[in-house]
Amino acid sequence: MSSSNSNPSASRCLRSRAWFDDPANADMTALYLERYMNFGLSLAELQSGKPIIGIAQTGSDLSPCNRHHIVLAERVREGIREAGGIVLEFPVHPIQETGKRPTAGLDRNLAYLGLVEVLFGYPLDGVVLTIGCDKTTPACLMAAATVNMPAIALSVGPMLNGWYKGVRTGSGTIVWRARELLAAGEIDYQGFIKLVASSAPSTGYCNTMGTATTMNSLTEALGMSLPGSAAIPAPLRDRQECAYLTGKQIVEMVWADRKPSDILTRDAFINAIRVNSAIGGSTNAPIHLNALARHIGVELTIDDWQKYGLDIPLLVNLQPAGEYLGEDYYRAGGVPAVVAELMRQGLINEKALTVNGSSLGDNCRDATIVDTKVIKPFAEPMKTRAGFTVLRGNLFDSAIMKTSVISDEFRARYLSNPKDPEAFEGRAIVFDGPEDYHARIDDPSLGIDENTMMFMRGAGPIGYPGAAEVVNMRPPVNLIKAGIHNLPCIGDGRQSGTSGSPSILNASPEAAVGGGLALLRSGDRVRIDLRKGEANILISDEELNQRRQALKDAGGYPIPASQTPWQEMQRADIGQAETGAVLESAVKYQRLAQTKGVP
Ligand code: FES
Ligand code: MG
Repeated sequence: MSSSNSNPSASRCLRSRAWFDDPANADMTALYLERYMNFGLSLAELQSGKPIIGIAQTGSDLSPCNRHHIVLAERVREGIREAGGIVLEFPVHPIQETGKRPTAGLDRNLAYLGLVEVLFGYPLDGVVLTIGCDKTTPACLMAAATVNMPAIALSVGPMLNGWYKGVRTGSGTIVWRARELLAAGEIDYQGFIKLVASSAPSTGYCNTMGTATTMNSLTEALGMSLPGSAAIPAPLRDRQECAYLTGKQIVEMVWADRKPSDILTRDAFINAIRVNSAIGGSTNAPIHLNALARHIGVELTIDDWQKYGLDIPLLVNLQPAGEYLGEDYYRAGGVPAVVAELMRQGLINEKALTVNGSSLGDNCRDATIVDTKVIKPFAEPMKTRAGFTVLRGNLFDSAIMKTSVISDEFRARYLSNPKDPEAFEGRAIVFDGPEDYHARIDDPSLGIDENTMMFMRGAGPIGYPGAAEVVNMRPPVNLIKAGIHNLPCIGDGRQSGTSGSPSILNASPEAAVGGGLALLRSGDRVRIDLRKGEANILISDEELNQRRQALKDAGGYPIPASQTPWQEMQRADIGQAETGAVLESAVKYQRLAQTKGVP
């Protein structure tokens, strides 16, 4: 890990001066000063002209994945102070992936909004974004993009590896396995809890290549955190050192006026898309990166993910696509080793700038793979094509499928007909939201067999506010007992990055806004063609139009009432998964730090 601290002269007049040193506005200046002095900061410090650096604290008792940031912040402070900055730490709205009901997806845009207001409205010249658990990372990056002030991300790092009876148990991923064992009666409730808890042996975020490891890795690939920093496990001393170096770096960034808009270029996003395929990254990544691109004002579409990512091989052997976990990823070389491997194939835009003032190419050029069991060389990948396929048809305008998790079992059953390669047909069974699925999945009258496709609708950004991670549905118990672990699953919700299910998901537009999924009926035949990128209900256009009219006459697809004010507000403004599920009215507010920020 390298940081640069050239300690340039304090020549720039910083934004925080408008609060703390503005003789033309003496009464307001006095008011600002006296209250920030009341806990011990001195007048001399606040008027020293030193950068005021925020630490956006996402850790709390409610956010256990990020809680270690409370400890790390001490080292961040020391780095900031040593480099000549002054620290103001503040809380970010908590988002705990596994703890928030009805879904943590609801809170990404809320934390984003809150952080935008803080960064814009308070005397800050730069910010350290404490990232980790799934949505905390995009929420923080999106806010920094909107405000566009110097910002650096600090990952909290993954947990240590989980173990159970000598076998690695990965967070999240073990849940999907354990629920099959429970459903099949091979373990009981207590055994289920014990098995799942074994996967979380220390502080930190999910140790699998779930959405957290994905988004922290992509943050580094984008250039928004120090090189080599993403994969360091939370409890290691290296993580503390990283916190200290991050604190030092942000002060240098403020003097250099190095902003998110200098780093988050289209080249950087394309790098991230390629790295995402090589690491076997989460299907939530397109939602979050497309959202980030919109807030920074970079053109990025769902088709870019297939165009730049599909043909990239899977190099990282982490669960759920592979077998290892976070500690192994770090020791094998982490993100720089992956980037360097792609660079040697000419697949990285090497000039993309990063937080330390050096390019991604310069940061990663000399990185090597330390353990080829965990990070494979480009010439001997885990899978040759590991990106996302984009599908379209009368079911939706777009949905994605993560090809790196298509198992041999699934491929043999569904994708190996020599007369019709990469395509399959089946009979649809439709569930309206996760509650409906849980109530009916084991009902024998549904007649679910290996030729069934299971559909989950009403789970998109508006239908299940924020979009629930529910598309990876386990088959009914009788099929699991017969050795069938995955049926094709399709839906307008999301799924956990820790899931190894080859679902077709993030369907846009969702059923709640009248997308094609709303017109589907149980018993319909559906055809999926991965080669052509098509997903269609096999009915005539005439029949489809009749159903559309009938849905309209019935008042549209029913969505449950909002439970909180925020659910209602977000539903009125949120876009679809394809375009990042952002608050549409927020997109035009860019580069706020270039305005003074004081009323
Ligand atoms: Fe927080 Fe997985 S639940 S990182
Ligand atoms: Mg998740």
